[in-house]
Amino acid sequence: MKVLLFGGAGYIGTHVALAFQKRGDTVGIYDNFSSGLRDNIIPGSVVYEGDILNKDQLKAALADGWDAVVHLAAFKAAGESMTRPEKYSLNNITGSLNLITECVSAGVKGFVLSSSAAIYGEPTYLPIDEEHPKNPENYYGYTKLAIERHLEWYDKLKDLRFAALRYFNAAGYDSNGDMMGLENSPANLIPVVMEAAVGKRDTLQIFGDDYDTKDGTGVRDYVHVTDLAEGHVMAVDYILANDESITVNLGSESGLSVLEILQESRKVSGREIPANFVGRRAGDPAKLVATSKKANDILGWYPKYSSLESIIKSTWDVYKKNFNL
Ligand code: WQD
Repeated sequence: MKVLLFGGAGYIGTHVALAFQKRGDTVGIYDNFSSGLRDNIIPGSVVYEGDILNKDQLKAALADGWDAVVHLAAFKAAGESMTRPEKYSLNNITGSLNLITECVSAGVKGFVLSSSAAIYGEPTYLPIDEEHPKNPENYYGYTKLAIERHLEWYDKLKDLRFAALRYFNAAGYDSNGDMMGLENSPANLIPVVMEAAVGKRDTLQIFGDDYDTKDGTGVRDYVHVTDLAEGHVMAVDYILANDESITVNLGSESGLSVLEILQESRKVSGREIPANFVGRRAGDPAKLVATSKKANDILGWYPKYSSLESIIKSTWDVYKKNFNL
Protein backbone atom coordinates (compact mmCIF):
# COMPACT_ATOMS: atom_id res chain seq x y z
CA MET A 1 0.00 0.00 0.00
CA LYS A 2 1.10 3.62 -0.61
CA VAL A 3 0.57 6.07 2.26
CA LEU A 4 1.45 9.77 2.21
CA LEU A 5 2.06 11.40 5.61
CA PHE A 6 1.47 15.15 5.80
CA GLY A 7 3.63 16.46 8.63
CA GLY A 8 5.48 13.15 8.37
CA ALA A 9 8.79 14.59 9.60
CA GLY A 10 7.41 15.50 13.03
CA TYR A 11 7.60 13.65 16.33
CA ILE A 12 4.50 11.56 15.76
CA GLY A 13 4.81 11.52 11.96
CA THR A 14 8.21 9.83 11.99
CA HIS A 15 6.91 7.12 14.31
CA VAL A 16 3.87 6.61 12.07
CA ALA A 17 6.19 6.39 9.03
CA LEU A 18 8.23 3.74 10.82
CA ALA A 19 5.13 1.67 11.58
CA PHE A 20 3.96 1.67 7.94
CA GLN A 21 7.43 0.97 6.58
CA LYS A 22 7.98 -1.90 9.02
CA ARG A 23 5.14 -3.77 7.40
CA GLY A 24 6.32 -3.07 3.88
CA ASP A 25 4.20 -0.13 2.79
CA THR A 26 5.52 2.65 0.55
CA VAL A 27 5.71 5.80 2.67
CA GLY A 28 5.68 9.40 1.46
CA ILE A 29 6.67 12.29 3.70
CA TYR A 30 5.21 15.72 2.92
CA ASP A 31 6.49 18.42 5.23
CA ASN A 32 7.39 22.12 5.22
CA PHE A 33 10.10 21.39 7.80
CA SER A 34 8.95 24.30 9.97
CA SER A 35 9.29 21.95 12.92
CA GLY A 36 9.79 18.53 11.33
CA LEU A 37 13.35 17.23 11.07
CA ARG A 38 15.00 15.87 7.91
CA ASP A 39 17.26 13.76 10.17
CA ASN A 40 14.21 11.83 11.31
CA ILE A 41 13.12 10.79 7.82
CA ILE A 42 13.21 7.03 7.42
CA PRO A 43 15.48 5.94 4.52
CA GLY A 44 13.40 4.78 1.56
CA SER A 45 10.63 7.35 2.08
CA VAL A 46 9.52 9.52 -0.83
CA VAL A 47 10.04 13.11 0.40
CA TYR A 48 8.11 16.20 -0.68
CA GLU A 49 9.00 19.59 0.76
CA GLY A 50 5.72 21.43 0.71
CA ASP A 51 3.07 23.27 2.65
CA ILE A 52 -0.60 22.36 3.04
CA LEU A 53 -1.34 26.01 2.16
CA ASN A 54 0.22 25.55 -1.28
CA LYS A 55 -2.30 23.86 -3.58
CA ASP A 56 0.17 23.36 -6.43
CA GLN A 57 2.56 21.52 -4.12
CA LEU A 58 -0.34 19.42 -2.79
CA LYS A 59 -1.48 18.53 -6.32
CA ALA A 60 2.04 17.57 -7.39
CA ALA A 61 2.57 15.23 -4.44
CA LEU A 62 -0.88 13.64 -4.65
CA ALA A 63 -0.48 13.15 -8.44
CA ASP A 64 2.00 10.34 -7.67
CA GLY A 65 -0.97 8.23 -6.56
CA TRP A 66 -1.57 7.33 -2.89
CA ASP A 67 -4.05 4.88 -1.41
CA ALA A 68 -4.33 6.79 1.85
CA VAL A 69 -3.05 9.91 3.55
CA VAL A 70 -2.39 10.72 7.20
CA HIS A 71 -2.79 14.34 8.29
CA LEU A 72 -0.30 15.25 11.02
CA ALA A 73 0.46 18.77 9.78
CA ALA A 74 -1.66 20.81 12.19
CA PHE A 75 -0.08 23.14 14.73
CA LYS A 76 -0.67 21.78 18.24
CA ALA A 77 0.37 24.27 20.93
CA ALA A 78 -2.80 24.90 22.91
CA GLY A 79 -1.43 27.98 24.66
CA GLU A 80 -0.16 29.59 21.45
CA SER A 81 -3.54 29.01 19.78
CA MET A 82 -5.08 31.41 22.33
CA THR A 83 -2.66 34.24 21.61
CA ARG A 84 -2.20 33.65 17.84
CA PRO A 85 -5.55 32.20 16.64
CA GLU A 86 -4.91 33.48 13.09
CA LYS A 87 -1.90 31.14 12.80
CA TYR A 88 -4.16 28.22 13.74
CA SER A 89 -7.14 29.15 11.59
CA LEU A 90 -4.92 29.51 8.53
CA ASN A 91 -2.87 26.36 8.92
CA ASN A 92 -5.20 24.05 10.78
CA ILE A 93 -8.48 24.96 9.12
CA THR A 94 -7.67 26.47 5.70
CA GLY A 95 -4.68 24.15 5.25
CA SER A 96 -6.71 21.09 6.22
CA LEU A 97 -9.53 22.06 3.86
CA ASN A 98 -6.99 22.45 1.04
CA LEU A 99 -5.69 18.99 1.83
CA ILE A 100 -9.13 17.38 2.02
CA THR A 101 -10.32 18.87 -1.29
CA GLU A 102 -7.09 17.97 -3.12
CA CYS A 103 -7.27 14.41 -1.75
CA VAL A 104 -10.79 14.06 -3.15
CA SER A 105 -9.65 15.43 -6.53
CA ALA A 106 -6.74 13.00 -6.56
CA GLY A 107 -8.99 10.03 -5.77
CA VAL A 108 -7.48 9.25 -2.36
CA LYS A 109 -9.68 6.68 -0.65
CA GLY A 110 -8.67 6.90 3.01
CA PHE A 111 -7.87 9.94 5.19
CA VAL A 112 -6.54 9.57 8.73
CA LEU A 113 -6.71 12.67 10.91
CA SER A 114 -4.50 13.22 13.92
CA SER A 115 -7.18 14.57 16.23
CA SER A 116 -6.95 15.28 19.94
CA ALA A 117 -8.50 14.89 23.36
CA ALA A 118 -8.42 18.70 23.42
CA ILE A 119 -11.74 18.70 21.53
CA TYR A 120 -13.52 17.54 24.70
CA GLY A 121 -12.50 20.40 27.02
CA GLU A 122 -13.28 20.14 30.74
CA PRO A 123 -14.46 16.57 31.41
CA THR A 124 -18.02 16.16 32.68
CA TYR A 125 -17.39 12.47 33.37
CA LEU A 126 -14.42 10.08 33.38
CA PRO A 127 -13.13 8.08 31.66
CA ILE A 128 -13.87 10.09 28.52
CA ASP A 129 -15.58 8.18 25.71
CA GLU A 130 -16.21 9.38 22.15
CA GLU A 131 -19.74 10.53 23.01
CA HIS A 132 -18.47 12.93 25.69
CA PRO A 133 -19.60 16.57 25.15
CA LYS A 134 -17.21 18.50 22.93
CA ASN A 135 -16.51 21.94 24.39
CA PRO A 136 -12.88 22.69 23.58
CA GLU A 137 -11.23 25.10 26.04
CA ASN A 138 -8.67 26.34 23.54
CA TYR A 139 -8.68 27.35 19.91
CA TYR A 140 -6.35 24.51 18.98
CA GLY A 141 -8.94 22.01 20.23
CA TYR A 142 -11.65 23.87 18.31
CA THR A 143 -9.66 23.61 15.05
CA LYS A 144 -9.33 19.85 15.48
CA LEU A 145 -13.08 19.56 16.07
CA ALA A 146 -13.77 21.73 13.02
CA ILE A 147 -11.62 19.47 10.82
CA GLU A 148 -13.52 16.42 12.10
CA ARG A 149 -16.82 18.08 11.20
CA HIS A 150 -15.61 18.86 7.66
CA LEU A 151 -14.50 15.24 7.24
CA GLU A 152 -17.97 14.05 8.25
CA TRP A 153 -19.43 16.09 5.35
CA TYR A 154 -16.83 14.90 2.85
CA ASP A 155 -17.59 11.34 3.88
CA LYS A 156 -21.27 11.95 3.03
CA LEU A 157 -20.78 14.05 -0.09
CA LYS A 158 -17.61 12.65 -1.62
CA ASP A 159 -17.22 9.16 -0.12
CA LEU A 160 -13.91 10.18 1.49
CA ARG A 161 -13.58 7.61 4.24
CA PHE A 162 -11.76 8.94 7.30
CA ALA A 163 -10.49 7.87 10.67
CA ALA A 164 -10.33 10.60 13.32
CA LEU A 165 -7.87 9.45 15.99
CA ARG A 166 -8.26 11.43 19.21
CA TYR A 167 -4.87 11.19 20.87
CA PHE A 168 -4.58 11.73 24.57
CA ASN A 169 -1.09 12.70 25.75
CA ALA A 170 1.42 11.36 23.23
CA ALA A 171 4.74 10.46 24.88
CA GLY A 172 7.81 8.27 24.64
CA TYR A 173 10.14 7.37 21.78
CA ASP A 174 10.74 4.37 19.55
CA SER A 175 12.37 1.70 21.77
CA ASN A 176 15.44 1.13 19.61
CA GLY A 177 16.27 4.82 19.53
CA ASP A 178 15.82 5.27 15.76
CA MET A 179 14.18 8.62 16.38
CA MET A 180 16.50 11.18 17.87
CA GLY A 181 14.71 14.44 17.09
CA LEU A 182 13.91 16.57 20.14
CA GLU A 183 11.22 19.25 20.15
CA ASN A 184 12.55 22.81 20.31
CA SER A 185 11.30 24.80 23.33
CA PRO A 186 8.69 22.21 24.37
CA ALA A 187 5.72 23.08 26.60
CA ASN A 188 4.54 19.52 27.31
CA LEU A 189 5.39 18.00 30.67
CA ILE A 190 7.69 15.11 29.79
CA PRO A 191 10.11 16.98 27.48
CA VAL A 192 10.19 19.82 30.05
CA VAL A 193 11.10 17.33 32.79
CA MET A 194 13.83 15.89 30.56
CA GLU A 195 15.24 19.36 29.83
CA ALA A 196 15.46 19.95 33.58
CA ALA A 197 17.16 16.55 33.92
CA VAL A 198 19.91 17.37 31.40
CA GLY A 199 20.33 20.93 32.70
CA LYS A 200 18.89 22.67 29.65
CA ARG A 201 16.29 24.19 31.97
CA ASP A 202 16.86 25.27 35.58
CA THR A 203 13.72 23.73 37.01
CA LEU A 204 10.40 22.06 36.32
CA GLN A 205 7.53 24.32 37.32
CA ILE A 206 4.66 22.16 38.58
CA PHE A 207 1.42 23.91 37.67
CA GLY A 208 -0.66 23.47 40.81
CA ASP A 209 -0.64 21.01 43.72
CA ASP A 210 -4.20 21.53 44.91
CA TYR A 211 -6.18 19.55 42.35
CA ASP A 212 -8.62 16.89 43.51
CA THR A 213 -6.30 14.08 42.39
CA LYS A 214 -4.18 11.32 43.99
CA ASP A 215 -1.40 13.72 44.99
CA GLY A 216 -2.84 17.14 44.14
CA THR A 217 -1.08 17.44 40.76
CA GLY A 218 -2.59 17.12 37.31
CA VAL A 219 -3.40 13.65 36.00
CA ARG A 220 -3.22 12.78 32.28
CA ASP A 221 -3.56 9.72 30.06
CA TYR A 222 -0.08 9.23 28.54
CA VAL A 223 0.04 7.01 25.47
CA HIS A 224 3.26 5.85 23.85
CA VAL A 225 3.84 7.20 20.37
CA THR A 226 4.58 3.69 19.06
CA ASP A 227 1.14 2.59 20.26
CA LEU A 228 -0.33 5.64 18.52
CA ALA A 229 1.58 4.83 15.32
CA GLU A 230 0.29 1.27 15.23
CA GLY A 231 -3.22 2.68 15.68
CA HIS A 232 -2.77 4.64 12.42
CA VAL A 233 -1.85 1.50 10.49
CA MET A 234 -4.89 -0.32 11.88
CA ALA A 235 -7.12 2.67 11.10
CA VAL A 236 -6.02 2.89 7.43
CA ASP A 237 -6.58 -0.83 7.00
CA TYR A 238 -10.00 -0.63 8.62
CA ILE A 239 -11.46 2.29 6.64
CA LEU A 240 -10.17 0.93 3.31
CA ALA A 241 -11.28 -2.65 3.97
CA ASN A 242 -14.71 -1.70 5.33
CA ASP A 243 -15.37 1.45 3.27
CA GLU A 244 -16.47 3.02 6.56
CA SER A 245 -15.32 6.05 8.59
CA ILE A 246 -14.52 5.85 12.30
CA THR A 247 -13.74 8.19 15.18
CA VAL A 248 -11.90 6.71 18.17
CA ASN A 249 -9.95 7.74 21.27
CA LEU A 250 -6.37 6.51 21.51
CA GLY A 251 -5.37 6.57 25.17
CA SER A 252 -3.70 4.18 27.62
CA GLU A 253 -6.61 4.52 30.06
CA SER A 254 -4.10 4.93 32.89
CA GLY A 255 -3.92 8.29 34.67
CA LEU A 256 -0.48 9.47 35.74
CA SER A 257 0.14 12.57 37.84
CA VAL A 258 2.86 15.18 37.34
CA LEU A 259 4.59 13.95 40.49
CA GLU A 260 4.51 10.33 39.30
CA ILE A 261 6.13 11.39 36.03
CA LEU A 262 8.73 13.42 37.95
CA GLN A 263 9.53 10.64 40.42
CA GLU A 264 9.95 8.02 37.67
CA SER A 265 12.13 10.42 35.68
CA ARG A 266 14.41 10.98 38.70
CA LYS A 267 14.62 7.21 39.24
CA VAL A 268 15.37 6.33 35.61
CA SER A 269 17.80 9.19 34.96
CA GLY A 270 19.51 9.14 38.35
CA ARG A 271 19.42 12.95 38.14
CA GLU A 272 18.04 15.31 40.78
CA ILE A 273 15.68 17.21 38.40
CA PRO A 274 14.90 20.42 40.31
CA ALA A 275 11.19 21.20 40.57
CA ASN A 276 9.00 23.77 42.30
CA PHE A 277 5.28 24.25 42.71
CA VAL A 278 3.68 27.32 41.11
CA GLY A 279 0.06 28.33 40.45
CA ARG A 280 -2.29 26.42 38.20
CA ARG A 281 -2.05 26.93 34.42
CA ALA A 282 -5.23 28.47 32.96
CA GLY A 283 -7.44 25.94 31.20
CA ASP A 284 -5.88 22.86 32.81
CA PRO A 285 -8.45 20.30 33.97
CA ALA A 286 -7.50 18.25 37.05
CA LYS A 287 -7.75 14.91 35.30
CA LEU A 288 -8.08 13.66 31.72
CA VAL A 289 -8.29 9.92 31.13
CA ALA A 290 -9.72 8.07 28.12
CA THR A 291 -11.62 4.92 27.54
CA SER A 292 -10.31 3.37 24.33
CA LYS A 293 -12.90 0.59 24.29
CA LYS A 294 -14.13 1.65 20.86
CA ALA A 295 -10.60 1.36 19.39
CA ASN A 296 -10.20 -1.99 21.17
CA ASP A 297 -13.45 -3.33 19.72
CA ILE A 298 -13.32 -1.88 16.20
CA LEU A 299 -9.59 -1.91 15.45
CA GLY A 300 -8.31 -4.49 17.91
CA TRP A 301 -6.01 -1.71 19.14
CA TYR A 302 -4.49 -2.17 22.60
CA PRO A 303 -1.57 -0.10 23.93
CA LYS A 304 1.52 -2.25 24.48
CA TYR A 305 4.26 0.29 25.21
CA SER A 306 2.43 2.86 27.35
CA SER A 307 3.59 1.90 30.83
CA LEU A 308 5.14 4.67 32.94
CA GLU A 309 8.48 2.86 32.88
CA SER A 310 8.50 2.39 29.10
CA ILE A 311 7.50 5.98 28.38
CA ILE A 312 10.09 7.52 30.71
CA LYS A 313 12.94 5.14 29.85
CA SER A 314 12.50 5.49 26.07
CA THR A 315 12.41 9.28 26.43
CA TRP A 316 15.40 9.47 28.75
CA ASP A 317 17.42 7.25 26.38
CA VAL A 318 16.92 9.80 23.58
CA TYR A 319 17.72 12.83 25.79
CA LYS A 320 20.78 11.05 27.21
CA LYS A 321 22.08 10.37 23.67
CA ASN A 322 21.32 13.89 22.43
CA PHE A 323 23.20 15.43 25.37
CA ASN A 324 26.03 12.85 25.34
CA LEU A 325 25.42 11.86 28.96
C1 WQD B 1 0.36 17.71 31.27
C2 WQD B 1 0.29 17.97 32.76
C3 WQD B 1 0.09 20.30 33.30
C4 WQD B 1 4.07 21.41 31.81
C5 WQD B 1 -1.48 19.16 25.76
C6 WQD B 1 -2.38 19.74 24.72
C7 WQD B 1 -3.21 18.65 24.13
C8 WQD B 1 -2.32 17.57 23.58
C9 WQD B 1 -1.36 17.06 24.66
C10 WQD B 1 -1.92 17.68 21.22
C11 WQD B 1 -0.75 19.03 33.12
C12 WQD B 1 1.42 19.73 33.82
C13 WQD B 1 2.95 20.69 32.14
C14 WQD B 1 4.87 21.99 32.83
C15 WQD B 1 3.37 21.10 34.48
N1 WQD B 1 -1.57 18.04 22.48
N2 WQD B 1 2.60 20.53 33.46
N3 WQD B 1 4.47 21.81 34.13
O1 WQD B 1 -1.99 20.17 28.69
O2 WQD B 1 -2.51 17.70 29.09
O3 WQD B 1 -2.24 18.56 26.77
O4 WQD B 1 -0.67 18.19 25.15
O5 WQD B 1 -2.86 17.00 20.87
O6 WQD B 1 -3.98 19.19 23.12
O7 WQD B 1 -3.22 20.67 25.36
O8 WQD B 1 -0.26 18.37 28.25
O9 WQD B 1 2.10 18.10 28.84
O10 WQD B 1 1.14 20.46 28.72
O11 WQD B 1 0.49 18.97 30.62
O12 WQD B 1 3.04 20.98 35.68
O13 WQD B 1 5.91 22.67 32.60
O14 WQD B 1 1.55 18.47 33.20
O15 WQD B 1 -0.48 21.18 34.26
O16 WQD B 1 -1.33 18.67 34.36
P1 WQD B 1 -1.82 18.75 28.30
P2 WQD B 1 0.95 19.03 29.06
